[in-house]
Amino acid sequence: MKDITVAELFAGVGGFRIGLEKASTCFRTIWANQWEPGKKVQYAFDCYDKHFGPSLTNSNEDIAIAKKDCPAVDLLVGGFPCQDYSVAHSGGAKGIEGKKGVLWWYINDIISERKPDYVLLENVDRLLKSPAKQRGRDFAIILRCLYDQGYYAEWRVINAAEYGYPQRRRRIFIFAARKTTKWYSAVIKSADESVRSVMYKTGFFADQFKVRGNDIVHEFDLKTKADGNDYIDLVDISNNFKAEFENTGLMLNGRVYTSTTTPYPHKQKTLADIVESDGVDDKYFLGDNLAKWEYMKGAKKIERTAANGHSYTFSEGPIAFPDPLDRPSRTMLTSESSTNRSTHIIADPKTGKFRFLTPVECERLNGFPDNWTDTGMPEKFRYFCMGNALVVPLITRMGKQLLKITKEK
Ligand SMILES: C[S@@+](CC[C@H](N)C(=O)[O-])C[C@H]1O[C@@H](n2cnc3c(N)ncnc32)[C@H](O)[C@@H]1O
Repeated sequence: MKDITVAELFAGVGGFRIGLEKASTCFRTIWANQWEPGKKVQYAFDCYDKHFGPSLTNSNEDIAIAKKDCPAVDLLVGGFPCQDYSVAHSGGAKGIEGKKGVLWWYINDIISERKPDYVLLENVDRLLKSPAKQRGRDFAIILRCLYDQGYYAEWRVINAAEYGYPQRRRRIFIFAARKTTKWYSAVIKSADESVRSVMYKTGFFADQFKVRGNDIVHEFDLKTKADGNDYIDLVDISNNFKAEFENTGLMLNGRVYTSTTTPYPHKQKTLADIVESDGVDDKYFLGDNLAKWEYMKGAKKIERTAANGHSYTFSEGPIAFPDPLDRPSRTMLTSESSTNRSTHIIADPKTGKFRFLTPVECERLNGFPDNWTDTGMPEKFRYFCMGNALVVPLITRMGKQLLKITKEK
């Protein structure tokens, strides 16, 4: 089979690449970019380069500069942050400008310049509802950009635990294909019969991530406003768009179809399935700090005074302490190694004593090979990199689907 060339943006320690290469040797990543803003030592890049390089095609520069070096590829992938995607007019009525440093615009520039057949992106699920005061605006801007560039798109919010992986990590995945691909024609044909069936049976995510659909499908347009007038441009969308995006949907020809879906029940993997049963170093145990952790994890109500003198009650609910071993873990954050209430604390299966997760256990929660980040970086960064990373086997499933749809090419 013909190779599928890939460019990996915001590559971190390579979650997309590992996942795709596991799906098939056909995936050939010919360019990757990773740069941690403001950091002299680039631990994630060094890890990536150690595994996949050293290579001149691994770029360690701000994507704002490096975007010009991204070659033409079949597939563009990347996990990028949820930011403010609003746009405004600049330099006369025709110019449109997003906020500086917003990474979506660099992805958009690369798509426009290199026109990959397929795009696969990852973000936090909050993207669908952002910003709070104009829900859906940011996602509508992304979809409208893709439409303007000649793509259809599908999205799905996927909680890894619901597909048999040991972490409750919920992320949105966005897949887009160019109108010139055979797959696009197949989707159009299927949607002519039923858009529901694209979401539940025939679309990009449907086969690998089987779901039960709900009969309610909301429809709205990215071309025409509710009052019947066309959106003049992206600024008009940015200022006036407001709609609810559900956890599943597609954008075809500027029209959005969205619905709530539920995965079929899977056998769950739990923390117990991935934790070390023996030989954990003493340094991972809590020692005398138990009371401090109990307080941090507990429910509280604290009277506080704001800077303006206004007093208010700060309250937070409890977090399970220790984290139950018979369930998938909570989402791992970049702060995993710090003294923070979201840091996981487990009862060690051998001794029953409370301890942190080890870096290897964190890698397992994301489906990375053991010791993937043991490439010379301080441990604190190994946790940080896993807090940033994605659940690799989800990408392997998507890679299998990509192989299927590109086969006829
Ligand atoms: C959500 S993480 C992606 C992690 C990756 N998918 C993985 O599996 O490890 C986003 C990455 O983008 C990188 N990044 C942030 N700003 C960047 C920029 N301006 N240029 C290039 N990379 C950037 C961060 O350092 C981080 O590693």
